[in-house]
Amino acid sequence: MAQHLNLSIDRDSRETLAAQLRSAVRRQIEQGTLRPGARLPSSRQLAADLGVSRSVAVEAYEQLCAEGYLISRRGSGTLVAAAARAEIGSALTPDERTASAEVVDLRTGGSDVSTFPRQDWVRCLSSVVSSAGRRELGYGPPSGLPAARHTLVGYLGRVRAVRTRPEHLMITSGFAQGLAILCRVLRDAGHDRLGVEDPGHPGEWEFIAEAGLRPVGIPVDGDGIRVDDLAASGVRAVLTTPASQFPTGAVLSAGRRKQLVAWAAAVDGYIIEDDFNAGFVAPAQRMPALQSLAPDRVVYAGSASKVLAPALRLGWVATPPALTGPAERIRAGWDIGCSGLEQLTFARMIDIGAFDRHLRRLRAEIQERRQAVHHFVNRRLPGVTMPGGQSGPQTHLYLPRDCTEQALVQAARRHSVLVRGGRYYAVHQDDRPPALVIGHAGLPGATLNRGLAAIAAAYRDVTARPPNGGGDRL
Ligand SMILES: Cc1ncc(COP(=O)(O)O)c(C=O)c1O
Repeated sequence: MAQHLNLSIDRDSRETLAAQLRSAVRRQIEQGTLRPGARLPSSRQLAADLGVSRSVAVEAYEQLCAEGYLISRRGSGTLVAAAARAEIGSALTPDERTASAEVVDLRTGGSDVSTFPRQDWVRCLSSVVSSAGRRELGYGPPSGLPAARHTLVGYLGRVRAVRTRPEHLMITSGFAQGLAILCRVLRDAGHDRLGVEDPGHPGEWEFIAEAGLRPVGIPVDGDGIRVDDLAASGVRAVLTTPASQFPTGAVLSAGRRKQLVAWAAAVDGYIIEDDFNAGFVAPAQRMPALQSLAPDRVVYAGSASKVLAPALRLGWVATPPALTGPAERIRAGWDIGCSGLEQLTFARMIDIGAFDRHLRRLRAEIQERRQAVHHFVNRRLPGVTMPGGQSGPQTHLYLPRDCTEQALVQAARRHSVLVRGGRYYAVHQDDRPPALVIGHAGLPGATLNRGLAAIAAAYRDVTARPPNGGGDRL
């Protein structure tokens, strides 16, 4: 029996009906009101119950299927997925870590906190606390302490060629807060839609919808986001990951960069550059921040989550001067800034060169892991292809057409590995080739290798293909 859903829709909300519906069903799954295996009404029935068009229900169901909350089976309808609750965290942290030590979590979003430079951090914190006076220990400006902003501006200019000044740099509680503020700034400026990369990060789409903008999927290819499709979509603002597209790892090409900033000028619009993973990109592949080409059109945003630890909740946003005032006004009504002591500790790490040293070590380590994954794919996953030029903390693989993502993900789970298929990251559930995304930055090398061996076993289970090389070693 299909369960009746107790859902309500607010027709005056800025959020689309499909986004509201998706959030409401998702909430019920997370709260356990809808349990694994529960059968949902058909999209036609749901649409009739709520008095919305069927396409609204179809869009919400398709998105929830892609995110792993629901499964849709011909003949038996739409069901809550067995692993839905364990699978899902919230918003920008959809990759809630598992509690079990035996389960290897190769979903994207993890940070290998074993690399956190504890001693450097403690040393810098200690020196900040020892010398902190009234100003440092009191309330600071919501946008961040001037000394920390000054250091960060120098650092971003040196390492990423970002062109900004301390008064236009806001220190935020992670990229998540920066994005939420920027969406509200755009909404207040009359935008009702924001372009997002497809594939991209589902957690971000939720932040965007909660801020009252509709995320519009824009295709990406091996050169990054497709600017011709962006122009055709009619949006006037876009969120993009030029340094290393998430999750394909493609670096936005020089030609596309020029095209993108020209588009922003032509539509009198804005580009939000999410540079959260630039720290992992090898020097040979790294390009200056897109912001350096058009500081009046590009909002530059970064985060300490992947390069230090998510627990710090440290991020930064450099706004074009026209957006600084509106962003500050929204921030002022939000909180009274983030921890001044952490801002100063991070700035001290930068000033004494400890952050650069840490990043160099981390980058070498992540590159080693990326190579291990590539080597593994070539030897142990016959028929799987790996697009070239991948630069990020995850590897994006294409599976043979006869290998379904869901079957592989479920088989991996039986081998105690959590990993995601490409559809999880897709805005449009079209007939794109099946894919697998392996997050290789979140775990120490030995655990990663254990996870890869289990993926090879799962792949054998679902394809019954013999491995390329002999033996079971990676
Ligand atoms: C696409 C993307 N951008 C940015 C971030 C960083 O977010 P935050 O700084 O809020 O931790 C993440 C974290 O997983 C991410 O996946």
